[in-house]
Amino acid sequence: MSSRAIRPDADVLGRADRPVTILVDGTPVTGIAGQSIAGVLLAAGRTAWRYGPTGGARGVFCGIGVCFDCLLTVNGIPDVRACRRRARDGDVIATQSRAAAPSTVDDNEAGGEPEPPAPATTPSSVDGAR
Ligand code: FES
Repeated sequence: MSSRAIRPDADVLGRADRPVTILVDGTPVTGIAGQSIAGVLLAAGRTAWRYGPTGGARGVFCGIGVCFDCLLTVNGIPDVRACRRRARDGDVIATQSRAAAPSTVDDNEAGGEPEPPAPATTPSSVDGAR
């Protein structure tokens, strides 16, 4: 089974689609009314749209709103699950990535590498003239 959309003219059921266009990081992507944002992206051939903290590609994992792998910013609202949100014509989507987010945790508290020692100072530079 393919995640690609079947073109209406190739669909043996003869369905009539109502197209929607969303803007993903400034690029228009066309889908079908009723699809989730993840569905629109998958049908367009995109299987990943963000990166985890270790650099791994993320897209749809569970597809039912449990794993939070598919997060996007939709119309300025961050952390929207692409698998749970229907695409609406004109939606402005921005991909987001934990890998690109600045760290808000002190590396020492998180068990990371310790900071290098501060350069040595001479007594005169610390307490002024003696
Ligand atoms: S794919 Fe798991 S929450 Fe969307």
